[in-house]
Amino acid sequence: MDSRSRLAFMLLLIANTLVFVYSDNDENEYTPGPVTYNAKSVIVGGNPILIFSGSIHYPRSTPEMWPDIIRMAKEGGLNTIATYVFWNAHEPVEGQYNFTGNNDLVKFIKLIAEHKMYVVLRLGPFIQAEWNLGGLPFWLRDIPNIVFRSYNEPYMKHMKRYIEYMVNMMKAEKLFAPQGGPIIMAQVENEYNHVQESYKEKGTQYVKWAADMATSLYAGVPWIMCKQKDAPQNVISTCNGRHCADTFMGPNSPDKPSLWTENWTAQYRVFGDPPSQRAAEDIAFSVTRFFMNNGSMTNYYMVRIEVT
Ligand SMILES: *[C@@H]1O[C@H](CO)[C@@H](O)[C@H](O)[C@H]1NC(C)=O
Ligand SMILES: *[C@@H]1O[C@H](CO)[C@@H](O)[C@H](O)[C@H]1NC(C)=O
Ligand SMILES: *[C@@H]1O[C@H](CO)[C@@H](O)[C@H](O)[C@H]1NC(C)=O
Repeated sequence: MDSRSRLAFMLLLIANTLVFVYSDNDENEYTPGPVTYNAKSVIVGGNPILIFSGSIHYPRSTPEMWPDIIRMAKEGGLNTIATYVFWNAHEPVEGQYNFTGNNDLVKFIKLIAEHKMYVVLRLGPFIQAEWNLGGLPFWLRDIPNIVFRSYNEPYMKHMKRYIEYMVNMMKAEKLFAPQGGPIIMAQVENEYNHVQESYKEKGTQYVKWAADMATSLYAGVPWIMCKQKDAPQNVISTCNGRHCADTFMGPNSPDKPSLWTENWTAQYRVFGDPPSQRAAEDIAFSVTRFFMNNGSMTNYYMVRIEVT
């Protein structure tokens, strides 16, 4: 082992110890209840928690596969599962919903709760996610005068209807942490800073509207916006990337925690691209650095853990 490998190995040990310390004794650690936060971390049921999360997208696998995938994530040391919610899978035709089979979101979340793990629910509705139309239903394009992801009445009307529908469904099933369920945070919009400039002032208005609309639904959990430098005070701006310890400018307010919502373990490949899997050492190094720099959440995007 050369000195670099030794360093990487030590960092991996530190990262694993962090995971171990905080995922040990999980009966005490899984404490659904009111969710608040401060600069140091998210606080669930009165307990400050470090969030070690992995992304699993329920429609990309089957209900038969979910228990094993969740169990392996747990055995691999994670205490949280993050998922996007896929609007166009749930409402393929306007007003006609589908929550069966691979789309059974409630079942997926209840399974995660059975494993005593938390959930971060990333509602979007634009989610990108290497998914058709980034999760937006095709019929939405035919709404007269619609402009996607802008301060635009037709778009906002449909977006609000969808977000409200999902939040109400989660509430009815008592899935938010203050109700005793596993959902500790929800996300509205997604990486909007990438496109915001082209919407000019309508983009700024839209971000503020989206934050106000989401928080007005009283889900009882904090709302996040990833990659949103100017996130309004009522939501938390979070980091996506490979090296958030070095690239994240911090949440945009001193009373908010530093959260890493997508820690890219690989990059998706378009035809002809070389493999892009990151080395475990590189990931361990950047996660450790992030926690050293006040981070209190990481989310492996995506996670698939083999436990032997
Ligand atoms: C609902 O979605 C599931 C999963 O994609 C699919 O198998 C099923 O056929 C859909 N149901 C209807 C009525 O389209
Ligand atoms: C993020 O993921 C990368 C790649 O999987 C890993 O090297 C790194 O340690 C992770 N960082 C955190 C904070 O989880
Ligand atoms: C971490 O938090 C402490 C206390 O709030 C602060 O002084 C320090 O600058 C922060 N470090 C980083 C890297 O953000």
